[in-house]
Amino acid sequence: MRAMVYRGPYRIRTEEKDVPRIEHPNDAIVRVTLAAICGSDLHLYHGLMPDTRVGTTFGHEFIGVVDSVGPSVQSLKPGDRVMVPFNISCGSCFYCARGMLANCHNVNPNATAVGGIYGYSHTTGGYDGGQAEYVRVPFADVGPTVIPDWMHDEDAVLLTDATATGYFGAQLGDIRQGDVVVVFGAGPVGLVAAQSAWLMGAGRVIVVDHLDYRLEKARDFAHAETVNFAEHDDVVVHLKRITDHLGADVAIDCVGAEADGNFMQQVAGTKLKLQGGSPVALNWAIDAVRKGATISVMGAYGPVPSAVKFGDAMNKGLTLRMNQCPVKRQWPRLFEHVRNGHLRPRDMVTHRIPLEHIAEGYHIFSSKLDGCIKPLIVPSAA
Ligand SMILES: NC(=O)c1ccc[n+]([C@@H]2O[C@H](COP(=O)([O-])OP(=O)(O)OC[C@H]3O[C@@H](n4cnc5c(N)ncnc54)[C@H](O)[C@@H]3O)[C@@H](O)[C@H]2O)c1
Ligand SMILES: [Zn+2]
Ligand SMILES: [Zn+2]
Repeated sequence: MRAMVYRGPYRIRTEEKDVPRIEHPNDAIVRVTLAAICGSDLHLYHGLMPDTRVGTTFGHEFIGVVDSVGPSVQSLKPGDRVMVPFNISCGSCFYCARGMLANCHNVNPNATAVGGIYGYSHTTGGYDGGQAEYVRVPFADVGPTVIPDWMHDEDAVLLTDATATGYFGAQLGDIRQGDVVVVFGAGPVGLVAAQSAWLMGAGRVIVVDHLDYRLEKARDFAHAETVNFAEHDDVVVHLKRITDHLGADVAIDCVGAEADGNFMQQVAGTKLKLQGGSPVALNWAIDAVRKGATISVMGAYGPVPSAVKFGDAMNKGLTLRMNQCPVKRQWPRLFEHVRNGHLRPRDMVTHRIPLEHIAEGYHIFSSKLDGCIKPLIVPSAA
């Protein structure tokens, strides 16, 4: 089969690989019909995720058709169109039993630190991902769901991560009626977090980024006010000024470890790797909210300590909430929102790239070229 293969930082190819096989009675093999590149894949692409091994295939957002199933699989059969959450979960451990599907204890030798994720290095279990023609789906009775007939494929693929995560980001913000919500990052996760904040009762939604084309999308797609941080000497002072000088009630970090905006943090975090990323957006969030506020962290950070302004968070009485998104837990509510037209994830798609040209897709998305917001990968296209 053809698959995306990692050859080292900034080096991606499409290569021939063996079709995966059933390894466990509850496995399914899925023929991928549509995949996506996530902002999280960029951390792998840039060589920032520990134990990203040469030869592995990325891709944790994908949908497809069931090709074959192991003997114990009951909920799927060959031919079913399925969407697969980015988390791999056993469905029965202490954490899965409590709905913490992103924190499963049975799917990763490093499970005390992080759960299992498709195509996301050996740090998250070493599973091959879905930027390929076929993918092995473990615990097939737990994760995948048959795509409802009414659902558009491009909405379905975006529900396997970006949309679920943006919504989760707003949920963890614990938004009250009328709250001022500041979203850092106008990528797919931030855009959905901004939309979702309205659904949860926000009175004002402000999106911060430095890419004008993405801020424009935040205005059109998420009806948010926008702030370009590059236009302000001190974006925190600006945010305070426009929020009655007290600060926002809720902030959502949809940026993570590769934040721009502070040269020293970037050098220490992403160039020298002395800390687990550059927590610029998170520190701005801590400074820009009012005392007693809630900060929700969706942006991904590495396992190494980072220079987070923890003392300020403590002294301001902030609540910090965070996790990888437990995708499947979000689906019943999100299916309703998509069906009712409250959310239209597919409006974020800017690129549809054949698997053969995935290297170009990574380059365009990583360098934010050509108005790129969300690139999809089409395995069957020549
Ligand atoms: N928690 C989860 O389950 C989960 C799931 C998916 C993605 N993520 C993480 O969420 C983050 C966003 O993902 P995405 O797909 O939207 O990525 P993306 O790369 O498309 O978007 C990130 C945006 O942040 C902007 N940015 C950079 N520095 C900033 C700063 N200091 N302040 C404000 N904006 C800044 C960038 O210009 C970019 O538009 C990534 O860190 C990703 O790893 C987490
Ligand atoms: Zn992701
Ligand atoms: Zn589990």
